[in-house]
Amino acid sequence: MSTGHGQGFATRAIHAGEARDPATNAHNTPIYQTATFTFGSAEEMAAAMAEPFDNFFYSRTGNPTPAALERKLASLEGAEEAAATSSGMAAVSAAVLASARAGDHLIVADDVFVISRQFFEQDCADLGIAVSFVDITDHDAIRAAVRENTTLLFTESATNPHMWIADLPVLRTIADEHDLTLIVDNTFLSPALLRPIEYGADLVVHSATKYLSGHGDTIAGVIAGPRHRFERIRLKLDALGQCLSPFNAWLVLRGIRTLPMRMRAHSENALALASFLADHPAVEWVSYPGLEQHPNYELARQLLGERFGGMLSMRLHGGVGEMNRFANALKLADLGVSLGDVYTLAYPQPRRDNLIRVSVGCEDTGDIVADFRQALDQI
Ligand SMILES: Cc1ncc(COP(=O)(O)O)c(C=O)c1O
Repeated sequence: MSTGHGQGFATRAIHAGEARDPATNAHNTPIYQTATFTFGSAEEMAAAMAEPFDNFFYSRTGNPTPAALERKLASLEGAEEAAATSSGMAAVSAAVLASARAGDHLIVADDVFVISRQFFEQDCADLGIAVSFVDITDHDAIRAAVRENTTLLFTESATNPHMWIADLPVLRTIADEHDLTLIVDNTFLSPALLRPIEYGADLVVHSATKYLSGHGDTIAGVIAGPRHRFERIRLKLDALGQCLSPFNAWLVLRGIRTLPMRMRAHSENALALASFLADHPAVEWVSYPGLEQHPNYELARQLLGERFGGMLSMRLHGGVGEMNRFANALKLADLGVSLGDVYTLAYPQPRRDNLIRVSVGCEDTGDIVADFRQALDQI
């Protein structure tokens, strides 16, 4: 098994965390589809259960297939440890609930995934945790929002849906000034493009449903970070029953092996599509951090280099009629809410001022641009 030390990212995406199966010599990590694990003696069983997170005895608490995914993700994010979860929301909620308590105040980016926002707004309030939402690119506003009981700062690395880029070095400085835990949702960029721990994030969370799995065939999540935070995280995941199934873990493991190649294709296609859209007279605005006119372009260059991911958002001139005519005319791109798949997906949002979020897939660049061109011609 590769631990990943000294190896490149693509090598680790393929090899890290996985090994020939000791029972059968199977090359691929098996799907250990079992609820429980049995023991040869009462003494062996007692010893295993005394260290519940280091041994397998019940698959809500631990299973070898998700464990392989955890090792791979820890390697790719440059973390000491990772935990696989049943969904991205399980990762977001468990990471926050393991880090905050009743009476705490949290600062959260105001442009985050809508269900994350719902969790912070409603569930945290129910638990006696106060939350302020701020523009994560406005560092004065973040500092002004800090209270005596502020303990945590949460952002997405590239925000959903507006594609603002979080200035992680500055956020780390602010977190240090006030002793805050910095949690970064890295779903939109993936560790192939950005590893928030390198910039001082305390915990990284993912919807592994998206780029990590990459094929739109499973719901999954991951939390990565330093070992000392994982006792609480694993207890929380266990108590709330947020384990990832062995089969879904296997799908994510299979997907991650091609993550670097897919992120390259997503990034090239998204830059080409964003450039085309930016010049089209029917388009009011397009937000893609790889475009020079994007307000966070310089920061994106500094943090991401040459590749800016596969997500963009846009708005057309006109109203909901124009948006719907355009969306209904798309032929290659499908209409749907998820993202990060090899398929191009468009998500028209009438309740968000007619914003259209596009997850640019891995199809041929010319075919994607041609599809958007012919759909724009229809309005
Ligand atoms: C940035 C971000 N974080 C978390 C989630 C939640 O992930 P899941 O749908 O796997 O629960 C999503 C889902 O779209 C997301 O976009």
